[in-house]
Amino acid sequence: MQDTTQQDNWKQLAGEAAARLIEDGMVLGLGSGSTASYVVRYLGLRIQEGLQIVGAVPTSNATEQLARELNIPLTTLDAHPELDLAVDGADEIDPRLCLIKGGGGALLREKIVASAARRFVVVGDVTKQVLLLGVHFPLPVEIVPFALPLVRRRLEALEAIVQLRYKEDQVFVTDNGNMILDCSFPGGIREPEELQTQLKSIAGVVETGLFLNMTERAIIGGPEGVKVVMGEEL
Ligand code: 5RP
Repeated sequence: MQDTTQQDNWKQLAGEAAARLIEDGMVLGLGSGSTASYVVRYLGLRIQEGLQIVGAVPTSNATEQLARELNIPLTTLDAHPELDLAVDGADEIDPRLCLIKGGGGALLREKIVASAARRFVVVGDVTKQVLLLGVHFPLPVEIVPFALPLVRRRLEALEAIVQLRYKEDQVFVTDNGNMILDCSFPGGIREPEELQTQLKSIAGVVETGLFLNMTERAIIGGPEGVKVVMGEEL
C-alpha cells in the first residue's frame, strides 16, 4: 500500500505545477478533493503575490469555502458561462486521459465546470494512472433519490455491482441533494463511451463519473517529480 505522506507530496507537486498554468485575466474552474485543494492553495498564494484572475467557479461547497478563506475571487457560470481553464483531480486516469471521478461526490458540478472550460487539466499522482478504468475504483453515478429502486435494477442489468454510498452511517447526499451509486464492473470498463451512453439513458441518472475526451493534459506527481501527459487531439 502507498505511504500517504509520500502520496500527498506527489499530489502537492502536481497541484502546484497545474496552478502555474494560471495567468492574469483568466476565468477558472476549481476542482474538488485533496489534489485539487493544492491547486487552490497555490492559486491563493499566487494571488497574494499579485496574480489577477477574473474569478473562479468552485465545483463543491468545500472548494468554495477554501477559496473564500484564501481570498480567491469567485464567480458563477451565470456571469461567465465559458471558462478559460478548469483544473481538477481524478480517481483514475487511463492512457487516453479518460477519467473516473466522483470519489469525493462532487462529480456533477465537476463535469459541468469541465464542460464549460476551453481547457480541462487533470492533476493526480502516479497511483491514479491505470491501463483500464474501473478495475480497482468503482464508477460513481449520481442519481435522483426518487429513482433509486429503478436505477439500481437498470444498473444491475448492465452487470454492475451496485453500492449506495454512505458517509458516517448516513446515506451520502451530494451538494445537489442527490445520491451516489458506486458501480463496480468486474473486469473493468472496456467500452467507456458505450457505457456512458447506456447510463445516461436511464431515467433518474443525473451524471456519471466518466470524463471522456475532455482532458487536455494530465499533470502527474510521482517519485521522479512532475510529468505532463498530453491528451489526444480533442
Ligand atoms: C471528487 C473527485 C476528486 O477529484 C477525486 O476523488 C480525487 O480526489 P483526491 O485528489 O482527493 O485523490 O472527483 O468528486
